[in-house]
Amino acid sequence: FCQLQSKQQQEKRCSSFGIAFDIDGVILRGRVPIGGSPQALRRLYEDSGSLKVPFLFLTNGGGIPESRRAIELSEILSVKILPSQVLQGHSPFKNLLKRYENQLIIATGKGEPALVMSEYGFKKVLSLEEYASFFENIDPVSQYKRWTTEQVSNRTKGSLSLNMTPRCNVSSEAVKAVFIVSDPVDWGRDIQVLSDVLRSGGLPGQENGHQPPLYFAADDLEYQAAFPSQRLGMGAFRIALESVFNRIHHNALENVSFGKPNPFVFKNAEAILSQLQLCSHIESNFKECGGPGSPPLKTLYVIGDNPSVDVKGAHQAGNPWFSILTRTGVFRGESNHAEFPADLVVDTVAEAVDYILQREG
Ligand code: G3P
Ligand code: MG
Repeated sequence: FCQLQSKQQQEKRCSSFGIAFDIDGVILRGRVPIGGSPQALRRLYEDSGSLKVPFLFLTNGGGIPESRRAIELSEILSVKILPSQVLQGHSPFKNLLKRYENQLIIATGKGEPALVMSEYGFKKVLSLEEYASFFENIDPVSQYKRWTTEQVSNRTKGSLSLNMTPRCNVSSEAVKAVFIVSDPVDWGRDIQVLSDVLRSGGLPGQENGHQPPLYFAADDLEYQAAFPSQRLGMGAFRIALESVFNRIHHNALENVSFGKPNPFVFKNAEAILSQLQLCSHIESNFKECGGPGSPPLKTLYVIGDNPSVDVKGAHQAGNPWFSILTRTGVFRGESNHAEFPADLVVDTVAEAVDYILQREG
């Protein structure tokens, strides 16, 4: 989980607080750092480069394994990020491993959704693209699409243990669950194929059957990306799929969404921050810092840009969460948000970190 710190590092006092950073609209827009994020993050490290303040990224985004996202973030932000510091919308999907480990499941979304699920341990996962390729004419407009994707080929490069797309007979083996891992790329194809899978009980083209479970990594209606105004997120895709499905099928679509603002996401972040606190003091101050019987982190700050996701989540999680809203993403208001007011509103993430470090002395 963590790497041992140097002797000099172990002698500092324990941090009594931790920070969870939202990514889109706070740290990055697209792949570009915003709000002074690299400099702000650097303040959370010792000169030696080891962690001074436990922090992590709590994003509803995703599409690549946490280990790869950590490398990508380290490069973009010029600080060393560990995989354990990256919590993505789909990270809780690994908790469903026992239920679906050897079952045929579909994963869809931008990036490499099947690789993400394979790395969590799911043995029989197909990307929606791979799955659709077994059914001739399932997408009636595919011949008009001029783009190609590299998802299938990239997957084979993912890891040594994942060098094969699982074998299965899709005409007799029913899909047992569908996972929307990240923002879907081809909404039209995905709505068509998922409607087929979901209404047929996992066997497209066949009679109606019991709907397999459908899991969304998050439910953001909109989020802040590189374009000046907000972009449609996974929540918008859910509404589109649900609207269509409920018109063509007699039973309403059943689905579950993970990600913020669910309180369990914040509970999990709290547990990881405590472990990170322990990591930075693992040898010398075991009792005082994060070890058994040690005081918990007194304040956990979440810095976000979306009131109905980041701030609402902090409200629902309750103590010890303290919410800070920046004006670099979804929220742009002069004063606080009316429905989900944050504990503090600032312009940028740099200002937020400044406030936290001053407050914590
Ligand atoms: O697709 C990403 C988006 O829904 C939100 O990401 O980092 O703002 O939680 P984030
Ligand atoms: Mg955000």
